[in-house]
Amino acid sequence: MTRLALGILGSGKGSNCRAILENIRAGTLAAEAKVVISDVLDAPIMDIAREFSVPHAYLPPGQFRTRLEPNIEAELVRMLRDAGADVIVLAGFMRVLKSPMLEAFPRRIINIHPSLLPKFPGLEAWKQALAAGETVTGCTVHLVDEKIDHGDIIAQREVPILPNDSAESLHARIQIAEHELYPAAIDKLWRERAGVS
Ligand code: GRF
Repeated sequence: MTRLALGILGSGKGSNCRAILENIRAGTLAAEAKVVISDVLDAPIMDIAREFSVPHAYLPPGQFRTRLEPNIEAELVRMLRDAGADVIVLAGFMRVLKSPMLEAFPRRIINIHPSLLPKFPGLEAWKQALAAGETVTGCTVHLVDEKIDHGDIIAQREVPILPNDSAESLHARIQIAEHELYPAAIDKLWRERAGVS
């Protein structure tokens, strides 16, 4: 089977996008990044796309803060289709996707979340885990559905919470795990689709 054709969406730092692009470059992930799209004009993820020579585009998000206007979301679908993207990878994309995207790419949109879902959906999940007194948290790659941080789980990785952890130190440890887990989970998805063991 051919490599997965990825469309990557992000709003910020892009460290997970970088990890994915590095794995593609190293030949450890059978995928091709077709396009990186951001709703934030000067987001560092756009610089990462430039660095790896991946086509990239800015999507002006419209008037809402946490989602896209329906016509803009339809434009996003067109952009991803035009780029030839088949699997959509959310890498720190801070808007909730609705029916235009979910119907265009059914069970083909994936997200990474910084907790062991179903525990601690929502923002700053590492702070939630700390506040709850957990000793272990982690990260989860899952299919995206209509609920927030919800959908079939593809892969999870545990991360210990240490006695002296701050929110920052814990988040940094989770991100290191994310950078291994996300490319591995995309590879797993490809193997399942290709029937490769
Ligand atoms: C990650 O921590 C991920 O879990 C969450 O958004 C963050 C994105 O970070 N969904 P980055 O932009 O990939 O560095």
